[in-house]
Amino acid sequence: MKTLIPPVLIAAAALAVAAQTLRQAAEARHFHIGTAVQARLLTDPAYSATLAREFNQIQPEGEMKWRVLRPSQHAFNFAPGDAIVKFARSHGMRVRGHTLVWHEAVPAWLEDGHFTSREMSALLREHIDTVLKHYAGSVYAWDVVNEAFNEDGTMRSTLWYDKPGIGAPGPYGYLERAFRLARAADPHALLFYNDYNFEAGGKKFEAILAMARDFKKRGVPLDGIGFQCHLKLGSLTGAQLEHTMRAFTALGLQVQVTELDVRLPVNAAGQASPEDLAQQAKLYGEVVHACLDVPACTALQTWGFSDRYSWIPGKFHGFGAALPFDVNYQPKPAFESLLSVLLKG
Ligand code: XIL
Repeated sequence: MKTLIPPVLIAAAALAVAAQTLRQAAEARHFHIGTAVQARLLTDPAYSATLAREFNQIQPEGEMKWRVLRPSQHAFNFAPGDAIVKFARSHGMRVRGHTLVWHEAVPAWLEDGHFTSREMSALLREHIDTVLKHYAGSVYAWDVVNEAFNEDGTMRSTLWYDKPGIGAPGPYGYLERAFRLARAADPHALLFYNDYNFEAGGKKFEAILAMARDFKKRGVPLDGIGFQCHLKLGSLTGAQLEHTMRAFTALGLQVQVTELDVRLPVNAAGQASPEDLAQQAKLYGEVVHACLDVPACTALQTWGFSDRYSWIPGKFHGFGAALPFDVNYQPKPAFESLLSVLLKG
């Protein structure tokens, strides 16, 4: 005997399917849900289909870092970054730029170049000016400086910090100069400071907050703080995140979750336990919930979307399965949790 499905059930199922992407749920509430992407994967149909369906904002994982943009001192390579901008444009997505000043992903010619403070200063100016002008109108926000503080709240020793001559006077020398140069190069771009492991509070959080206060007081152009949120189970609660976000939004700054992933212990096949996947889903839900609760939290991005291409297994030995889609682009519990909070939370 043939079972007939009542039309009303079919209609309800169709409706549920229609509202079942992160992108649709985000757009219904005018929210930006983003992810880090790799230009080389944009031509892979499975990758690009999931990307365009689920997200309305993207950020290059490496293509706008010095190592890719500056293959040699006198040449810029914009092609991979441009491919990302092009993809975004044809799929109605915004682009976040990442990152102008960082101690990692620096080309050897710069790292080993033995440049004087004066030369470093000129390089910083040329870089920020050229890159922001190239992407003006295409990149709406930049991580101007990434990861400038140590865990204890002191400034990290880097190729930039260790050349005091390149910055403005004062404790935040090179950071202040980078923000001022960025504003001058593209007055329309939103300028972010981005960091990790301060989301739950502590000395690094206090140090970033002190800098943000100082910048606001003295008119240094800072528009927002990026909360990377590279998490593991138990490292953060939604309440802590909301608390630290509000400390910045009280200064008139925006905040964004910029690099969310939740790494889990995995077996030799790269698989996590069902219990951990459920806990991971809960944490994803708490993070997006905190962001939606804070009016000046203006976007949430994951650091990649499929476990197939996550940076976690290469960086944290024995960990993986950190993203909302598995290696075959199938939605995981974390996806369901993000979706349900975006739909109703
Ligand atoms: C990571 C990339 O995902 C890796 O592929 C690369 O090897 C190293 O950088 N914080 C950041 C990101 O701001 O730029 C980093 O991205 C992850 C940590």
